[in-house]
Order: sequence, then structure tokens, then C-alpha cells
Amino acid sequence: MKVYLDNGATTRCDEKVIERMKKIYLKNYGNPSSLHSLGRDAKKEVDRARKEFANYLKISEEEIIFVASGSEADNLAIKGLSLAYPEKKHIITSKIEHPAILRTCEDLERNGYEITYLDVNKEGLIDIKKLKELLRTDTLVVSIMHANNEIGTINDIESISKICREKNVFFHTDAVQSLGKVKLNLGNIDLASFSAHKIHGPKGVGALYIKKGIRLKSIIKGGGQERGLRAGTENVPGIVGFAEALTSLSEKEIERITELRDYFIERVMKEIKEVHLNGPLKERLCNNASISFHYVEGEGLLYHLDAKGIAVSTGSACSSKSLQVSHVLRAIGLKHEIAHGTIRFTFSKYNTKKEIDYVIDSLKEIVTNLRKMSPLYPEEK
Ligand SMILES: Cc1ncc(COP(=O)(O)O)c(C=O)c1O
Repeated sequence: MKVYLDNGATTRCDEKVIERMKKIYLKNYGNPSSLHSLGRDAKKEVDRARKEFANYLKISEEEIIFVASGSEADNLAIKGLSLAYPEKKHIITSKIEHPAILRTCEDLERNGYEITYLDVNKEGLIDIKKLKELLRTDTLVVSIMHANNEIGTINDIESISKICREKNVFFHTDAVQSLGKVKLNLGNIDLASFSAHKIHGPKGVGALYIKKGIRLKSIIKGGGQERGLRAGTENVPGIVGFAEALTSLSEKEIERITELRDYFIERVMKEIKEVHLNGPLKERLCNNASISFHYVEGEGLLYHLDAKGIAVSTGSACSSKSLQVSHVLRAIGLKHEIAHGTIRFTFSKYNTKKEIDYVIDSLKEIVTNLRKMSPLYPEEK
């Protein structure tokens, strides 16, 4: 049996998405900047997708621009603001952001910016009161992710953005993992990053929400596409596929994924000794279960699961090839050896209960065998 439980890394494309994209590749393949009818038709497709996106997020069409990834949206949000408002040199973020935010902030730090990296508690939540105290007149932006990609923690970004608004500080959120899964009210949010491939859309397409009135400077120079904010011929099939993926997500599916997640967590907790769940039980992504298996080496567990056709990850996809402990697991206070035994299981609408049962049976067998071989596992257990 093949079971894909790495949907936090990327997802299988929805057939409806592929159908709509295929039409663009084969029929409306013009360049949206061309003046002939094929070009105008391609532009219409981009406009339609933008409208669908805007309707879904209850924003206006000018407030969304398409880019090539969630990472690019994060870079553009932070760097674009820094270029447009150069007098403000302080940025606040958290220690468990995606590298697209952390590396961008580090880059700015090397160029004279002061960055405050907020600690998180053991569930991965920032201290909102502390954040309020740290806001200054020269704070450019606060960037706090909506949902964490490794441990699934959902931040109360409505409260955080409200505080920022009161203090006239921009608020950006990386909503790559939460889009379509968690209700998003963009009321006080100034900028938000999204990515298509986490929601059964194509890879290599992202979007950035920019509230009306906010100035931003482009970081990719060239033609005047996307209102001059993002040069480069639009990825028309990708943009159309993104809109289709977003509007295809149903609440019913989210409920079913949540049930699968809860069933999985409950059985693992009950049937395998010496394990714990990372992140909160309630305020967590519907499709995420991050579990630490004590006295087990995560990479070993991953490869044994892989041999049984089960795909999972040890941390986020971008850090799973490194043997360093994930910055997220470190920030929530996990001991080094426990962090190393952590596996991220991320579900999707394509998973079934039968698959989950197979994964649990496999886990029980592999964990028992690995512990038998571990010199650290006490014999009396
Ligand atoms: C929270 C978060 N932000 C940003 C990204 C980057 O998105 P993309 O893969 O589209 O660059 C990811 C992808 O893993 C993510 O999980």
C-alpha cells in the first residue's frame, strides 16, 4: 500500500486543477501582455483567476498579486516594505517562522536592521502581551505565521494584527499552511503570503495579499507585470490552477481530514508507549500531527516507513535533509534526542481511514524493532 502523509511538504494536484490548466497550456497559451486576441484571452484568464481569489478572501482584485512561490511572497512582503519605508529599521518576527522569513530578516540584519525574534511557548505560541511591549515607533513590520508548518500551531493573528494596527505598525502573516484550512479574516492584516502547492494546486505559484494603500517596492525588476510589483511573464496556467485549487476546497473535506487526524493521534497515543504530540491539541492545523517517538531515531523511522510505502517527514521539507535539529522543535524546548525522534504526519483529502490503520500497524512494528536495537532504551520498558 502507498500512503502519502507529507502534505505539509506538498500535495497531489487536484484533477479539476489539471483540467483547467490543460486548457491554458493547449488553447489560451498567449502572453497576457501581447496585444493580439490570444494575448487578450490569456489576460482574461488571469483576471478571472484574480477575481475568484479576491471573492474567496473577500478582498478587492487589486489587493492580490501573483508570484512564483510562497517563499517569494514572504521575501517580497518584508523586503518590499523595507525598500518602500527605509526610515523604519526594526522588525519583529518569531523564532519558528519559515526560513523564507528568517533568512530574509537575517539579510536585512546584515544591512543595519534590528530584528527581534520572539520566543514561543512549548505549544509554539508567541506571548502577545510581550509583543505589544516591544512595538516601537521605528518598527516597520511584525511578521508572524498563521499556522506553523512543522507542529501545526495556529496563532491568534486577529488579536496580533489588531495590536499592530493600534500602534500603526504593518502586520504580515505567512499563511502558506493555513490557506483554505483555517478561517482567515484579513481585517487588520496588511500583507499575507500564500502558495498553491499546499492545497492541491500546482508547484511554483504563490500570491501576496497587499492591503490597499500600502506601498511596496518590487524586488524582481523587469517588465511591468502585476502592477509593476513583480516582473516576469505571468504563469497563466499556474495562476488559474491556484484559483481553481482554492475555490475547490470544501468545509466537508476539512472536517473529514480533521477526523482522520484525531483518529490517528488518539490511536498513536493509546497504542504506542513513550510518545508525545508536539503543538497544541486544539489550535492546530486540521492536517498536522507532529509526534515525538522517544528512544527512536527519526531518520531511521522515516526510512523504515518509506520501505513500507509510507511517506512522512522528520521536520519541514526544507530542513529534513539536514541532520540539525529543527529550529522549531528547539524553540518549543524539546531536548535534542527527543527532537531527533520527531516525525511530521500531514494528511489530505485523499487519505482514507484504511490507510491510517495501515500506518499505525506499521508504526507499532517499526518503533518496537528500533527500540529493541537502541542502546538507550531501558530494558525494563
Ligand atoms: C509556512 C511556510 N511558508 C512558506 C513556505 C514556502 O512556500 P513555497 O514552497 O511555495 O516557496 C512553506 C513551504 O513549505 C511553508 O510551509
